[in-house]
Amino acid sequence: MKTQPFAILVVIVSCCALFASVTVLAQTTTDAGLATNPIYKKNCAKCHGKAAEGRHFGGPSLISDKTRAASDDDLRNVISNGKGRMPKYTGKLTPEEISTLVEQIKALNKK
Ligand code: HEC
Repeated sequence: MKTQPFAILVVIVSCCALFASVTVLAQTTTDAGLATNPIYKKNCAKCHGKAAEGRHFGGPSLISDKTRAASDDDLRNVISNGKGRMPKYTGKLTPEEISTLVEQIKALNKK
């Protein structure tokens, strides 16, 4: 009898944990957008803004007619080799990571 309230608490806590992890999982799988990409947050958001809206150090918005008009290769080229004040990411990110960023930038511009 003494352990019962504790047992109930454990059930409640584990339900919450389960629910939280399901929510997190759902977010990473269904909304794998640029703003949720940890690589973007770590490397790019300081210039291009948390939601790619453009922000500091002259980093332009990545949601623009210019970006929409750019091909995947153009975007990959800018990220890999840099351009003006945009740093190059060859050697810092893997080709797969850069491809994911390109896809996510493209996806943002399709909306
Ligand atoms: C130091 C600030 C800075 C950081 C960090 C940075 N950028 Fe940039 N980015 C720029 C600037 C400035 C430009 C504009 C370059 C130009 O056109 O002269 C740019 C341009 C771009 C473009 C081309 C946009 C277009 O419409 O042609 C893309 C794509 C891009 N950045 C993606 C990224 C990604 C992805 C990251 C992270 C891996 C990143 N940037 C990190 C400053 C930055």
